[in-house]
Formats: sequence, C-alpha cells, structure tokens
Amino acid sequence: MILNQWYSILPSKSIKKNQIVAVRRLNLDLALYRSENGELGCVVDQCSHRGAALSLGKVKGDCIQCPFHALEFDKNGKCTFIPANGKSSTADMTRYNVKKYLVKEANGIIYLWYGDEEKATEYLPFFYDYVDNSYAYSEIEDHWNSHYSRCIENQLDVVHVPFVHYNTIGRGNKTLINGPKVEYENNILRTSANNEVDEGQTPKSPEECTIKKTNLNFMFPNIWMNYITEKIKVIIYFAPVDDENTILYIRFYCKISKMRFINNIIAFFGKFANKIIERQDKKVVITQKPKASSLKSGEKLLVGDGPIIMYRKIREELKSKV
Ligand code: FES
Ligand SMILES: [Fe+2]
Repeated sequence: MILNQWYSILPSKSIKKNQIVAVRRLNLDLALYRSENGELGCVVDQCSHRGAALSLGKVKGDCIQCPFHALEFDKNGKCTFIPANGKSSTADMTRYNVKKYLVKEANGIIYLWYGDEEKATEYLPFFYDYVDNSYAYSEIEDHWNSHYSRCIENQLDVVHVPFVHYNTIGRGNKTLINGPKVEYENNILRTSANNEVDEGQTPKSPEECTIKKTNLNFMFPNIWMNYITEKIKVIIYFAPVDDENTILYIRFYCKISKMRFINNIIAFFGKFANKIIERQDKKVVITQKPKASSLKSGEKLLVGDGPIIMYRKIREELKSKV
C-alpha cells in the first residue's frame, strides 16, 4: 500500500445510522459505525479490554459499546466508560483507548486515511470535473482474489481487450496495439486504446498516437474512470482488503436523457453490461502471479503495456516519498 493517501473503501450507503459494520480494508480489521446524527466513526475491531470484536457491539450516542463487558469508546478511540468501575469512578481510562482511523465521506464513498494522521489532506480523490449530481449512477460490487494493483493494471491494459473481451467490448479482432499514448498530469494517469486489425502494418509508437475522446483515467491511490462519452462514464474504486483480496465497486454513470428517471433506468441496466465485462476480466486477473505487481517483478512487458509501466513507476515513487 502507498502510505499517506485517502483510499476509497466502501459505499456510504453500506452503513446506516446506529449501525456498526465490520470491514477488513488495507490489512486492517475495522469497526465502522454511524451515530444517530449520521457521523461516521472508525476504530480497530478489537477491544482493548479482552479483545472482543467491537463491531458486534452497539452504537451509543457518539460512542461504540463493546458487546462483552460494555466498555465505551468515542470516535477518537478514547475510552469513555467502564461499567464495572461504576459511574462514580474518576480513574484514568487512557490505557483502555483503542486505535481510531480517520474517515471521511464524499461522492457516496467512505474514504479512509492510511498513514500518518498529521499528514491528512483535505482533498478526497474523485473525478469531480467529469461527473456531478446531474448524472444518475448505479453501482455493483465484486470481490476479486487479487491484489488491488493487479485489478487497477487490468483497467489500464489495452492489450488484453481483443482476447479477454473477444465477444464484448473487444469484438473485431483488433489485436495490433498502436502506442498507446500515456499522460500523467494533476495526479491523473490517462491513456486510450488505439488498437487495429493486424494487416501486416507496423504498430505506431506511443509518440505517434494521441489520447482519444474515449479514454481511461486513473487517480491515485485507487480510483479509475472510463470516459466513454461526455454523457456516459464508468468509475471503479478498488478497495484493498488485504494483500490478496480486493473489492471492486463499479459505477455506471449516465446523463443521456434530460429526464432523471430515464437516466436511472439506463444506469440500472448499464451496470449489468459492466458486470459481464468485469467477470471476463476477473477470471484471468485472479490467476496472476505474484499477487501484487511491482516495478521490479521481472515480468517481460510489451510496448503496449506503457500505461501499466507508468502506473508502476508512479506507485513506486509515491511509496518511496513517505
Ligand atoms: S472485551 Fe470489550 S469490554 Fe471486555
Ligand atoms: Fe478488461
């Protein structure tokens, strides 16, 4: 994982008021909860007293209460009450505090700050310039037994399209890979497929190619957008569970019609098209070894893997910066 980043980890709608949800993300077992007033809290899912899962407890006001002996913890992980010691107790409870994590919400997504809290930034990564409330969207999720780096690379891979998706988005036997051109600007890595039927011509170099109107965009650390047309986009956030598992949240965005309910219907069906394509990818990506990708993996990459090489380089740089 790259440290000191906001990771998209879960849809906001997954946690209702007064509900606690146990989630594993970024190799951490977390108890995420929402208080009566709608605010989120996130603490380690392990009580400081005798190790029970806090996620099995209850939300009490702004606090989370352990199911075992009912110790209470606030959003800062501070222990606020120990019933066994009685209401009148004035003893210092600092040693019972639990680890808390910074969480924020925007765009219907819960973000978790992974790293040093003092370095947390205001900005939450998202494609704000491309989608807004005028779009309808519909979301599906799927679990992949893969490291999130492999899932992301798959979404930047223009070489696999005519093979893995031969009967869907890759129809037409366009196996020859021109470029692709890759850019990295304002934290967005951008590329576009420029594939052709192989009639014996020499592929164009990345320099001879341009970024097309339909293009692929990736924003560190874990969110991706397929700009299909001005009115249709697909956004995926890849929530890292641990070193071998990722949950993909895939959104189909649409504003083809002036009428919201029609856009809702299109988005609803659009997500099933996404699902067919995503399942084609998953079948192959989960077999990749090693589970995580890396710049020095020894894989024999092709010119057409340019976007993947760029992703690996930037990822490496970001990892070494912290
Ligand atoms: S284990 Fe949580 S209160 Fe005892
Ligand atoms: Fe694919």
